[in-house]
Amino acid sequence: MSYKQQITDFYNARTNYDNDVTRNRAIALFDYASPQIGQSVLDVATGTGNIAIGAAKRVGANGSVIGIDIATELLKIARQKAQNLSNVQWIEVAVEEYQPSIQFDAIYCSFAIVLFSNIPAILSNWCRSLNPSGFIAFTCSSEDSYFALSIVEACAKHGVILPNLHELLGTPERIQQVLTQANFTQIEIYPRQLGTYMTLEKAQSRWNGRFWLHQENPLLELEPEKIQQIKASYDAAIAQLESDRGVWHEELIYYVVARKI
Ligand SMILES: C[S@@+](CC[C@H](N)C(=O)[O-])C[C@H]1O[C@@H](n2cnc3c(N)ncnc32)[C@H](O)[C@@H]1O
Repeated sequence: MSYKQQITDFYNARTNYDNDVTRNRAIALFDYASPQIGQSVLDVATGTGNIAIGAAKRVGANGSVIGIDIATELLKIARQKAQNLSNVQWIEVAVEEYQPSIQFDAIYCSFAIVLFSNIPAILSNWCRSLNPSGFIAFTCSSEDSYFALSIVEACAKHGVILPNLHELLGTPERIQQVLTQANFTQIEIYPRQLGTYMTLEKAQSRWNGRFWLHQENPLLELEPEKIQQIKASYDAAIAQLESDRGVWHEELIYYVVARKI
């Protein structure tokens, strides 16, 4: 199955995606960059449309918003939620294939950019698709969020090299570098810690030894015995992290705004 199909299936199955956490962490992007009345906005990987709907209300009747995504089921929810809004349009298309016919004042992408193929090329495209005074606003996660480094290390212990989805945009320095290369300026990075302590059992259950969203997932090729060994190493590493408050589950989100000029 292609990577894109895996992602589509994964999100199509998440019709319970919306809750206070997913909604609030997305619309927090407006705290750092908000579109103005009459502007045109693109929301990439809109999902259930939280950013697109928030933007449609902000730009008003003379503004316009396009929300794009590959997950049909999430777009259905977005459409339903936006029934009373006439200035938002939904398009089922992958970001890699989308060819906009207009320039945007703002391009948003909340909790999705790491899933895209060829992120540097997409960022360059976004820069070209912006009006001169336009901005992009997106989120990405630190490279150690979601126990990613513990998972990568557990695999390495057994000779399996697991690419980390969050590596490219996983530190402020790398975000700066990647955006500069894509011709962006005035790069602002606002870290927000959304992490929590969890019980050891919950922390260990966060990873089943196989699941990994990345274009190359070498775990899919492994025998069940090998997976069990890796999972045991992961469980042991997580147990080492336990304190009297539980296990710290890092979720350090970078809210990023960058401008064309
Ligand atoms: C974690 S959800 C975020 C949804 C929404 N932006 C939010 O914050 O509420 C990730 C979304 O990215 C979409 N997605 C992943 N890869 C994509 C691609 N290549 N093109 C368009 N959408 C994609 C998924 O279908 C899913 O809706």
